[in-house]
Amino acid sequence: MTETNLWDKPVSHGEILKRVWKHLDLGVLDRDHPFHTPVFGTVAYGAPRMRMIVLRRFWRRPARLAFHAHAGSPKVAEIRANPAVSWLFYHPRERFQVRITGVATLHTDDELHAEQWQATELFSRRCYVGEAPSRPSDKPTSGLPGDLVDRRPTREESEAGRANFVVVSSTIDEIDCVELNVKGHRRSHFAWKAKGELEMRWLTP
Ligand SMILES: Cc1cc2nc3c(=O)[nH]c(=O)nc-3n(C[C@H](O)[C@H](O)[C@H](O)COP(=O)(O)O)c2cc1C
Repeated sequence: MTETNLWDKPVSHGEILKRVWKHLDLGVLDRDHPFHTPVFGTVAYGAPRMRMIVLRRFWRRPARLAFHAHAGSPKVAEIRANPAVSWLFYHPRERFQVRITGVATLHTDDELHAEQWQATELFSRRCYVGEAPSRPSDKPTSGLPGDLVDRRPTREESEAGRANFVVVSSTIDEIDCVELNVKGHRRSHFAWKAKGELEMRWLTP
């Protein structure tokens, strides 16, 4: 197979990885960035399960990601039973797909938990004062406590949510990137090995 163009000038794995890091940084900082709301996958007793979440933290060394969840949500129980997780990001304007696999940790009472709770707006804390997601209800429901449906809780009221607040972090063990292009798509793969060394490959898209 002779490759003539892909695309005009050579690219290194390092440049692609820098692009991933840039978008993950922006995904945390900018709520309008497409990487702000990835799909997060768990293994639910043998079956895959996916849902959107909000990306809250990204660290480069060692590479990790994190989001917030209600302690009573099914995904938290699924992670307890099997911490293998995956993340799916897509930037439609750049036509850039990033798939990440890792191993999750649940933070319920540590420094990261305290930091993230501190950073959570009072309005958002209502979700943790309220019911856990995925509970059956006789009628359509927000799960929020009745008196907090249309107002921000006081700081004191919001503290009732702290015990239900979980930070889910995950290692970044593998990254699989697809860059779409009319001149031929490009696919790269990154895997961090046990001793921290990074294995980089090209794959057919
Ligand atoms: C754009 C968007 C962002 C969301 N962000 C979160 C989040 O950060 N954390 C979370 O637990 N659920 C979030 N949800 C709700 C989940 O997708 C899901 O419905 C809920 O957490 C229950 O998931 P589970 O039953 O798999 O635990 C979000 C939903 C949408 C549509």
